[in-house]
Amino acid sequence: MKFTIAVIPGDGIGPEVITQAKKALNAVAEAYDHIFLYKEAQLGSCAIDATGGPLPKKTIEICKKADAILFGAVGDPKYDNDPSAKVRPEQGLLQLRKELDLFCGVRPLKAYNNLIANSPLKREIIKNTDFIIFRELTGGIYFGKKELSEDMQSASDLSTYTVDEISRVAHLAFQAAQKRKKKVTLVDKANVLETSRLWRKTVTEIAKEYSDVSLEYLFVDNAAMKMILNPKHFDVILTENLFGDMISDVASALCGSIGLMASSSIGNENALFEPIHGSYNQAKGKDIANPLASILSAGMLLKYLGLHEEADAIERAVDKSLALGITTEDIKRKIQSSTSTSKVGDFIADYITNQDDSN
Ligand code: IPM
Ligand code: MN
Repeated sequence: MKFTIAVIPGDGIGPEVITQAKKALNAVAEAYDHIFLYKEAQLGSCAIDATGGPLPKKTIEICKKADAILFGAVGDPKYDNDPSAKVRPEQGLLQLRKELDLFCGVRPLKAYNNLIANSPLKREIIKNTDFIIFRELTGGIYFGKKELSEDMQSASDLSTYTVDEISRVAHLAFQAAQKRKKKVTLVDKANVLETSRLWRKTVTEIAKEYSDVSLEYLFVDNAAMKMILNPKHFDVILTENLFGDMISDVASALCGSIGLMASSSIGNENALFEPIHGSYNQAKGKDIANPLASILSAGMLLKYLGLHEEADAIERAVDKSLALGITTEDIKRKIQSSTSTSKVGDFIADYITNQDDSN
């Protein structure tokens, strides 16, 4: 089959990891007889440099027309410590999520057996951890009214949620739980926030439609602690935008490297796939960044397109690279030596190709 994939390499290590993900996709195309047409687009700091803004109109057009979007990373330290910067690279990604209504962020976390020793947690605590975060992605404090007083002595960010915004992501979380261990944990701060109380009320109602799924509630501070003390507790986590951002970074540290965690951002018309990690500008151009999160994001993209066997081939290749220790330096701690970004990408692509040859 033929698919058009919008490719946004973005900033920092984005282009390097995207190159590896494309190698994997090309190997899949060859082995399974598909055609992937890549349409490259700009977003982030590189787009600001080229066009003055972080999200050119052309990028939105390319994304809307594509069957799926593959995204690298966004961000540049030159903006981070400049509070007066009016344009920021991250605005590009946030605007794209809003523009395409990508309301549901899906962030799976699985402890790879071959990486247990790399986890900061004890073996018996991390082993068999497997949960998935459903993060609301287009509402809440990220998108509420922002104000800075003229004298710059006070500022505010408003967090608003509607029942509709909560419901649509909640349904997806419950549906995912039905196919897993049938447990949803709603993470909120209902002891303090009005928005959280609306989340609880709405999600409690929705849970009645999914009688085979159990629902529990956790305050976000407690959830962050539990994620470290007992990560196996979780199956599907459902949460608002800001809490989802925070706990997904906590989660990503559990399995040994943030360089392994892939994500999807799903809307009714479009879907974007990206690693959880940022642009890691210190590593840019050094061929040391871990490409696996980007490669696994390409795997999630294939699943979204209905190409399940092909997605499995990518996952098997990633498992194999971890088993053989063909990994970048972020996960070398317990594995003796490390290799480069591009060598990991080459291994994955070769493995996909040869695996198929031997079928
Ligand atoms: C993420 C990132 C983004 C977010 C940034 C880059 C705007 O941290 O996808 O988790 O905060 O959502
Ligand atoms: Mn984040």
